[in-house]
Order: sequence, then structure tokens, then C-alpha cells
Amino acid sequence: MSKFISPSLLAADFGNLQSACEMINASEAQWLHIDVMDGVFVPNISFGFPVLEAVKKHCRKPLDVHLMIVEPEKYIERFVKAGADILTVHLETLKNPISTLRQIKDMGVKAGLTINPDIPVQSLRSLVSEADMVLLMSVFAGYGGQKFIEETYTRIEELKAIIADENPDCLIEIDGGVNIENAPLIFAAGVDVLVAGNSVFHSPDPIETIHKLLN
Ligand code: DX5
Ligand code: ZN
Repeated sequence: MSKFISPSLLAADFGNLQSACEMINASEAQWLHIDVMDGVFVPNISFGFPVLEAVKKHCRKPLDVHLMIVEPEKYIERFVKAGADILTVHLETLKNPISTLRQIKDMGVKAGLTINPDIPVQSLRSLVSEADMVLLMSVFAGYGGQKFIEETYTRIEELKAIIADENPDCLIEIDGGVNIENAPLIFAAGVDVLVAGNSVFHSPDPIETIHKLLN
């Protein structure tokens, strides 16, 4: 089991993304989480290719890109060229999940598959063999700063059983409402990667908060 922190850039000061990247470089965070929202799959719009390219220039950690967009298969090549190292797509947006996951891996990056809290975990069973990572949303995708949904712990247990059967190397990531109080419990539940937006970027000392989330 890994223990990774992937701070979400969505909560950073967009007027100063270079310094956000420098903080990430200086911190113990292993990845940087990038939330791409299209205003169609989710009722919010964040940023796209030019911002990702700019972040890639300054951030030395792998970019963990979470696509909250319809028809993600159309944009895989562009996201990889813009700097994605892990590319995660929502099952809800996929016409052919296996082909999209293979398309991502064929580009030489890690393929992540994610679902919102209202999608049954069992719908991942036939797909985890094709995924390098499953991201279980612990809030509904669309906004930072929401409260962690407690039922997520039951869903983690369910997912762990599926992964043990189908693809033991598949990582589990949790996204939404993670903070220094619940992080130890979520890691203890068997999660490999925690996304943390507001709890990192809105804390007085983000580098220290990342350290605390990991320890
Ligand atoms: C929500 C995004 C999250 C968000 C997490 O749609 O996918 O990555 O930035 O933010 P916090 O940690 O503040 O809940
Ligand atoms: Zn996210």
C-alpha cells in the first residue's frame, strides 16, 4: 500500500500558480491534483490546457489530472501532451470504458477511473482490471470545500474486495473533504492516495499540513 498526498490546485490562489507549484515542489506531496471541469458534466468550469501547460513548467511532481468533462476520449492525447501523468475519467461520461482506459495507457500514462458517490461500487467490477487507479469521490464532483461523505468508508471496503479479486496492483484514491482529522482514518481504511484542496491551500502552513496529512 502506498501513502500519497495529491493536493488539489483548485483551492490554490490562481493569481499565483507558480508559487503554488513551488510550494508543492518543496513539500512531501507526491503528486499534484488538477481538476478539469467543463460546466456540462459538472455545474462548474475550472481550467483547461493552457493552465495545465503552465503548471507543468513549474511543478516537478507528477500531475494527477481528474477530468470532470463529457466525451473525455476526445481529449486524451491533448491532456497527455499538456502534461498529465495520471489521467482519471468518470465512468458516468464513458460510452466504452475499456477502450478509453486502454487509450489512456497506450499514451504512456496511468489510467484512473472514478465514480460519484451515487454510482454503485459494483459497477467497477468488470473494469478495474484495466485501471491503474480507482478514484472514489467522497463528495459530488464539481466544487472544492464540501464535507466528506461518511458512507465512503463502506464504499472503500467494497472496492478493496473487488480490487483484491480483480487487480491487486490498482491504487485507491479518495477526493473531497479530506483534512488532517479524517486523513489517518482514510489511510487506515486502505486508501493509497488522498486528494486535499482546501485543507492544504487554505491552511496557514501548507507544507506543514501536507506533512501532517501524511503522518
Ligand atoms: C471536486 C474536486 C476535488 C476538490 C477537492 O469536484 O474533484 O478535487 O478540489 O477539494 P477539497 O479537498 O477542498 O474538498
Ligand atoms: Zn478532483
